[in-house]
Amino acid sequence: MFELPKLLITGAEGQLGYELSAQAQEQGFEVVSCSHDDLDICDWQAVAALFAELKPDYVVNAAGKTLLGLDSEACFNINFQGPEVLAQVCSDQDIALIHLSCAEVFGGDSEIPYREDDDIAPPSDYGRSIYQGEQAVRQHMCRHLILRTGWLFSARGQSSVLKLLEQARKADQVCVADGLVGSPTSAVDLSRVVTAIIKQLDCGVENWGTYHYCATETVSWFGFCETIIAAARQYEDLPLEQLVSVHQSELGSHPRATYSVLNCEQVLRDFGIHQRSWRTGLMKVVRNLYDWAE
Ligand SMILES: NC(=O)c1ccc[n+]([C@@H]2O[C@H](COP(=O)([O-])OP(=O)(O)OC[C@H]3O[C@@H](n4cnc5c(N)ncnc54)[C@H](OP(=O)(O)O)[C@@H]3O)[C@@H](O)[C@H]2O)c1
Repeated sequence: MFELPKLLITGAEGQLGYELSAQAQEQGFEVVSCSHDDLDICDWQAVAALFAELKPDYVVNAAGKTLLGLDSEACFNINFQGPEVLAQVCSDQDIALIHLSCAEVFGGDSEIPYREDDDIAPPSDYGRSIYQGEQAVRQHMCRHLILRTGWLFSARGQSSVLKLLEQARKADQVCVADGLVGSPTSAVDLSRVVTAIIKQLDCGVENWGTYHYCATETVSWFGFCETIIAAARQYEDLPLEQLVSVHQSELGSHPRATYSVLNCEQVLRDFGIHQRSWRTGLMKVVRNLYDWAE
């Protein structure tokens, strides 16, 4: 029987890490899921010892921190030092690395979706640290694939869906950042993409490098939040009366790229991976939330 490779997934309790662990196992990969408690990706010795013991064929780095509340030092640690350690160890031990990244490396002032080789101009320390992490991966190893993606959501963890619904249950008004345009992407959909890529790499397709994947249909952050609320109202009465649009600086976050849509033609051309709709993904996430609550 055809044997799928061994994956080690970091950040396995996060949105992507959790979904990817579940999907990869279902598909027959041998999976080692490492939560933050199991493995700190910034700890070189721990990473080197664990990889040497477990000998994975691929490491998928799904560890990260969301923008909200991160100071510059924390950004640097998790987004630069972590990937650098993983890249060094993977290179030393001849393990392929799939590293997740995002559109915050671009300037955010485009009006057309960003291509992989567009100019880099991060609008914040967060974006700069993400780019430094990407560069560390590129410099340390050849067998890497950096996958930039859109606004991730899922039914667990730091999901924007959960955070918004929590607020909508407590208040009649919720403030939402104005003027942000992007492509929400469900962690389930992104897991499909990651496993499809690994299967092809493992069959000898030598398409290493940087790729983009996000779901179809560009939407404002405000519009995405409205859709979440409308979907949840099919299952629950929410006290929320109004979403209030405010400038992102009023929400205490790092400045986010105002436009973060990614062009996904290259992942289609090289891996045959088509984009799916975020709306379908969102409906499934919301339905799951209420199914689990019953
Ligand atoms: N969320 C988005 O909108 C988005 C968009 C584009 C790209 N991405 C990228 O996609 C990846 C997955 O994102 P996500 O939304 O699934 O993230 P997430 O839900 O925030 O999960 C990240 C996980 O990483 C863990 N972690 C944090 N620091 C760590 C460390 N030093 N060592 C090991 N684990 C650590 C966290 O654990 P603790 O919570 O215990 O610290 C958490 O379980 C990240 O690389 C992220 O940068 C995310």
